[in-house]
Amino acid sequence: MKIESIKVKNFKALQDFSLENIPSLCLIVGSNGSGKTTIFDVFGFLKDCLTFNVTRAIQSRGGFNEMVSRGQKDQDITFEIQYRMEITGKERLVTYILEICLVDNKPCIKREILRYKRGAYGSPFHFLDFSMGKGYAITNEEDFSKPDEDLNREEQKVSLDNLAIKGLGQFQRFKAANKFRELIEGWHVSDFHINLARGSKDAAGFGDHLSVTGDNLQNVARNLYDNDQVRFTAILEKMKKRVPGIGAITPEITQDGRLLLKFQDGSFKDPFIDRYVSDGTIKMFAYLLLLHDSAPFPLLCIEEPENQLYPKLLGELLEEFRDYARRGGQVFVSTHSPDLLNAARLEEVCWLEKQNGYTHIHRAADDEQVRKYVEEGDKLGYLWKEGFFAGADPQ
Ligand SMILES: Nc1ncnc2c1ncn2[C@@H]1O[C@H](COP(=O)(O)OP(=O)(O)OP(=O)(O)O)[C@@H](O)[C@H]1O
Ligand SMILES: [Mg+2]
Repeated sequence: MKIESIKVKNFKALQDFSLENIPSLCLIVGSNGSGKTTIFDVFGFLKDCLTFNVTRAIQSRGGFNEMVSRGQKDQDITFEIQYRMEITGKERLVTYILEICLVDNKPCIKREILRYKRGAYGSPFHFLDFSMGKGYAITNEEDFSKPDEDLNREEQKVSLDNLAIKGLGQFQRFKAANKFRELIEGWHVSDFHINLARGSKDAAGFGDHLSVTGDNLQNVARNLYDNDQVRFTAILEKMKKRVPGIGAITPEITQDGRLLLKFQDGSFKDPFIDRYVSDGTIKMFAYLLLLHDSAPFPLLCIEEPENQLYPKLLGELLEEFRDYARRGGQVFVSTHSPDLLNAARLEEVCWLEKQNGYTHIHRAADDEQVRKYVEEGDKLGYLWKEGFFAGADPQ
């Protein structure tokens, strides 16, 4: 399952934003304040709507008036996401639409639609269609033998600020809704904080997946060390190649039930505990744990992975993002790094331009000049530095 396009209206700086043909690894370049984090927050917002409700998702972003694009106070906030998934043996393009308005100062779901084409011809069919708390969902959507008018409609009521896919998406029979719900719920942003990752942790902590900030690094490492030596060894081998001196990494539980990591440096007899190894060492190890996860997040966003890492390692890191995407997780990366871009392919790169306060996105593949240079062998990081990403640099 993969997101193909995103259209957003009136969500913070994304006043009229559209990105199509999204690759499974998408790198986004943009100056400070250009909207990179806001693009990631489209998924964060939808996830909060699913986990809580629309009111709470908006409240945690400062309220409707703060969230709606400046100068568009009376407008609705809308999201349209297209994703590809298999339904009855065929890849289909499913569209999810959400429109949020303000009534008596309360956010309401004005419209929520899930639609896709059942056949090669005709317009897409609405499998879920709700408006101001009322609507229907089709209960036998996979019964393709039936004409549209014979499908079973289940009329439903939901509260004005609750997504219909929140309830219906729990049921397998609403396949497209269920999958979309899983995709958004499985969204993960990596906003790694070295200081939170360092230091001993409660040995009883959660260690299945690396957390947003990386503050359960020791627990994840220990989980892998105890349960999947093959994967752990593969990570260690990569660490040895990328960080000079690293010989071994071992988790250790202290007498008071804390968990820490010991990094063996080939030059010394005594290992260093994680509190005292370098920032880049911790960060590289954290990325390897994240990217070697046996169950990839379906949607992974990573903010500026280049920080603290030696530039020559970024090409290899990019290859690991690609691998992760191949294994089923779609990856969005925000970056300011020419070295990372130099390793990227034309169709993987976009850049942001701020025009009159609003964010616009350009795909490198759609820019004729950039395309031509890349075809002639130029690298994207150099082209960006030379100013060929029109509008990307601050004026
Ligand atoms: N309601 C709104 N309407 C218009 N613009 C907004 C709104 N809310 C926030 N902004 C602006 O959106 C911009 C984008 O911020 P964002 O955090 O996404 O940038 P960024 O590209 O991640 O920057 P950085 O590289 O500094 O992290 C900011 O300049 C912010 O002031
Ligand atoms: Mg940001």
